Amino acid sequence: MMLEPAPSLQQLLAFYLDAGVDCALNDEPVNRLLDDEVAAPIQAEQRAPAPPSLPDTIRPLAPRPAPALGTAPPSPDAAIVSAREAAATAPSLEALRALMEQFDGCALRSTATRLVFADGNPQARIMLVGEAPGREEDIEGLPFVGRSGKLLDLMLAAIGLDRSKVYIANVIPWRPPGNRTPTPQETQICLPFIKRQIELVDPSILVTLGNPSTQTLLSTRDGIMRTRGRWFDYDTGTRAIRALPTLHPAYLLRQPTYKRLAWQDLRAIATALAALD
Ligand code: URA
Repeated sequence: MMLEPAPSLQQLLAFYLDAGVDCALNDEPVNRLLDDEVAAPIQAEQRAPAPPSLPDTIRPLAPRPAPALGTAPPSPDAAIVSAREAAATAPSLEALRALMEQFDGCALRSTATRLVFADGNPQARIMLVGEAPGREEDIEGLPFVGRSGKLLDLMLAAIGLDRSKVYIANVIPWRPPGNRTPTPQETQICLPFIKRQIELVDPSILVTLGNPSTQTLLSTRDGIMRTRGRWFDYDTGTRAIRALPTLHPAYLLRQPTYKRLAWQDLRAIATALAALD
């Protein structure tokens, strides 16, 4: 019998890239076929300490260990119900973050490095919500820190805002592998968490960044080119928050000519904020 030659490093890397693996979660490989007791101490050693400089409200937690092999995830319906029940009990943002850290109903949690909960000021009058973390966000544990985040910072600066004056989160708090689009089920499972987060921050203005966030939170099927720049009411159940959809910075990086539309939206946000004073 002829043995196949071992694949070269380049072939292996190409295989991983094709499979959607574009970053390493740890410096050392983890043998997930080992017993839990053998694998757990290895993984425990690899947990990175959280950066000391960030305040408690925005400090990303250390990467979490993979769930035990053979543990069946709850069904999507059961996961949605348990997310709803859990989110409703969270009395504060800290409590919400803590229970999301423990929540095992969303499969994305086991492929992501860590929860990406939020950045910015929980007391801000304006809250921005994107779709889901990407690679950089997954590494740092903070939303919008990659290329689109840099553009978002510039957009905010153009109307005199920065991360101390806004609160930023995502509909999905765990990075989908290879940045794939989250499935409708994953979105439904995560929805109670972002809804509770919005309720707890209770901003005066909500900005939905891009189509998925807009359609999910504002319950519209219209595309972003129809919804952007139009004011909606976001209903928390106890009150209506003014909500403005705008173009996602990642889209603006690909289609810079649409920055003029984003600028119109930013001016509308600035005017609405000034009217609150
Ligand atoms: N895109 C998003 O929607 N959210 C992030 O946090 C980063 C990129």
